[in-house]
Amino acid sequence: MKVLVVGNGGREHALAWKLLQSNKVEQVVCVPGNGGTATLERCQNLPLAVDDFEGMSQFALKNGISLVVVGSEIPLSNGITDYLQNQGLMVFGPVKAGAQIEASKAWAKALMQEAGVPTATAAVFTESAAAKSYLQAQGSPIVVKADGLAAGKGVTVAQTIEQAETAIDVIFQGQFGSAGNFVLIEECLLGQEVSVLALTDGLTIRPLLPARDHKRIGEGDTGENTGGMGAYTPTPIATLELMARVQTEVLEKTITALRNRGIDYRGVLYAGLMVAPNGDFKVLEFNCRFGDPETQVILPLLETPLEDLILACIDQRLGEMPPLAWKEGSAATVVAASGGYPGDYEKGKIITGIQKAEAAGAIVFHAGTKLNSAQQIITDGGRVLNITGIGENFQQAITQAYTGIKHIQFSGLYYRRDIGHRVLKIET
Ligand code: AMP
Ligand code: GLY
Repeated sequence: MKVLVVGNGGREHALAWKLLQSNKVEQVVCVPGNGGTATLERCQNLPLAVDDFEGMSQFALKNGISLVVVGSEIPLSNGITDYLQNQGLMVFGPVKAGAQIEASKAWAKALMQEAGVPTATAAVFTESAAAKSYLQAQGSPIVVKADGLAAGKGVTVAQTIEQAETAIDVIFQGQFGSAGNFVLIEECLLGQEVSVLALTDGLTIRPLLPARDHKRIGEGDTGENTGGMGAYTPTPIATLELMARVQTEVLEKTITALRNRGIDYRGVLYAGLMVAPNGDFKVLEFNCRFGDPETQVILPLLETPLEDLILACIDQRLGEMPPLAWKEGSAATVVAASGGYPGDYEKGKIITGIQKAEAAGAIVFHAGTKLNSAQQIITDGGRVLNITGIGENFQQAITQAYTGIKHIQFSGLYYRRDIGHRVLKIET
């Protein structure tokens, strides 16, 4: 089987890496991929834009690609699945109508309300004055969100009314383009976040191991939101009891509500939850694809061949699959980022130490990297590398990740030294 993976992050490197562990997968082509997928054995990059559906379709049909796995939300929300399926290709990822669950927070909120899924109270606005008067009435802390896709950066958890007003101004001034046509103002929830990524064929839903992603740039979970600065799985917050409730109160209700709207949702349904100290939870967001960096910790522990699960989702026979098999233990990843991210940062810095980190036992997934003309790996994005450790328990996994990252060097390298700080205090 030849597989095309769409995207260029650490998630796509992890997807390609995992798929290539199967002897059924002969080759992976990444569009556009990164420095990691360029150097992975039996993997190559195809320099097309992720919205060049025609280019991908032509390549896939000409080169015997039998499966397309879409990593990123942008092509999904632009209808890549609908387009490529019409060309006769097998595609993993929901159709455009289903991807709205991530592409519009207002749409997702209405769906959750209709389905009775627990979620933060929110109101939607199209102009600043009404948004600000609602804000005054609600008080702070409060959360302001751009409606559409903004790479994790369209959300402000405002401690003061002034911060919230600034966030509203920024969104309506067009910083996030059409993603900012609507603003959601949402009740601020306290607790611990859990990412539940589930596979679904539109009928059956199989959750993967629950993960914890550290979204804030700063240690102690402070500062601006990012795409994610580190993650681990499993997380002790997600008890079996909690997961059973998530299955019935969130995942099943949501898939049923989607079906009621005529949407046959097949792919990953990712529920981002906030779990309160008393164990109650609410959905913060849905994503229509694998999480990044959650995938970089979940896939290393998955023993069931990923392509079998993906094909079962596409063919609507997930219910016939045996229970998912997992390695015992834990996985943790730390993101090596470019200084300045999630704001402005420089690119093109030479990266060294990857092989040393791997020799020390870590798995290094590339995110914002590329090969330069001298075949050196250089930085090419805000989140640059994901240094992943696996161990019998969380402490072993995170220690391996931090041991690995100490070998990595590039100008401006920044990483959080407290990933998993709530699980354990670690010396780094
Ligand atoms: P979202 O893209 O909606 O998941 O928001 C990104 C991040 O902002 C989440 O992962 C949380 O860290 C934070 N966040 C979002 N909504 C809320 C909320 N209602 N209360 C507290 N934090 C939130
Ligand atoms: N790690 C957050 C996300 O994938 O959206």
